[in-house]
Amino acid sequence: MPKLVLAYSGGLDTTTAIKWLAVEQGYDVIALNIDVGRSREQPVVESRGMAAGALKVRVIDAKDDFIRYFAFPALAAGAIYQDAYPLATALARPLMAKLLVDVAREEGAAAVAHGCTGKGNDQVRFDVGIQTLDPALQIVAPTRENAMARETQIDYLKKHGIDIPWGDKGPFSIDENIWGRSAEAGVLEDPWQEPPPAAYEWTRSAEEAPAAPAYVEVTFDHGLPVALDGEELDPVALVERLNDLAGLHGVGRIDHIEDRLVGIKSREIYEAPAAVSLNAAHRALEAMTLSKQQLRLKKLIATEYAELIYNGLWFSAHHQDVAAYVASTQRHVSGTIRLRLHRGQATVVGRKAPRSLYDRGLATYDRGDTYDQSAAVGFINIWGLQTRVQARVQLLSASAETLKIATPGE
Ligand code: ARG
Repeated sequence: MPKLVLAYSGGLDTTTAIKWLAVEQGYDVIALNIDVGRSREQPVVESRGMAAGALKVRVIDAKDDFIRYFAFPALAAGAIYQDAYPLATALARPLMAKLLVDVAREEGAAAVAHGCTGKGNDQVRFDVGIQTLDPALQIVAPTRENAMARETQIDYLKKHGIDIPWGDKGPFSIDENIWGRSAEAGVLEDPWQEPPPAAYEWTRSAEEAPAAPAYVEVTFDHGLPVALDGEELDPVALVERLNDLAGLHGVGRIDHIEDRLVGIKSREIYEAPAAVSLNAAHRALEAMTLSKQQLRLKKLIATEYAELIYNGLWFSAHHQDVAAYVASTQRHVSGTIRLRLHRGQATVVGRKAPRSLYDRGLATYDRGDTYDQSAAVGFINIWGLQTRVQARVQLLSASAETLKIATPGE
């Protein structure tokens, strides 16, 4: 039988997919469990996969690669989709696509599969990634091709002698990895409903968070986080520690109406305590170390970067180009930011950088002023020249009517 590598989470959808791919499609299924953090226990995944009839179950710990080569570069780029979503799921998909392709080659498989539905972004990210990395591979998407209701899936597995206690479905559809957690569906589909407490798992509510704030110092080197409170940490340990600390203080809850690539608006609840804290800190460090022109262009690039990640174009020449720009901008983005974590907010309260452009002598209103105030007069004379000429020629009377500025709604 031809071999197929399936991205396997150990959940009901992909467990059913193993059986379906074997029985209905005639594949020898290799179940590939990619651990990007917060995945199910390895023994559970293995026993479910084997019970469903996988030829073998392989587990890859991809947490370090995920943070180092996907999440942190997105952080340095400032990539936040629609000013809200730090892209946890979107960043993990291209890595999974790459590992599927790698393992397919190792195993001599002709096909790969994933459990995405036909309504979301993830199918696009998987398919485009796989097609780019190995156009010869067949892609099968059992859930997209043959959506089965939950009860049907459980019956289907039982019919084939697989009886696993699946427990309650839970009120939401969850996807999570070390960079963030997403919850969709159920009552969240009503955008007027406040998310119930059960929608959150990583963060405390502001009310239940400790009354006293916590402070944490994040040190960056060339735009990448390297230490917390002066202690050097590897990327995974740093993110895990900050998820715990910031989550305890209620930081990182996001309630967002999001535009999917396939044209659907959807209501998403995210939790991303480390990502939100690190983005705030990184932005503050850039404010110290980049010029105003650099900050302005980088903001545009950040939007572009977020779009390409969200839209599944990780493996593209366009990404290589914008990544080269981002890397160049980060060459002096080193230093330390002090954050105050309190009742749902991560607030920047201190910053220092060896190559800071902030010059206290220029800024001060106290003694030691090095700025020449008399030079401002000449500057303003030139800066305002165009406006003065235009006012003289075109805003003839400079009456209130002539100067009226359009106001929305009027
Ligand atoms: N809306 C987010 C995204 O498109 C999260 C998707 C979560 N994925 C899932 N299969 N539940 O990246």
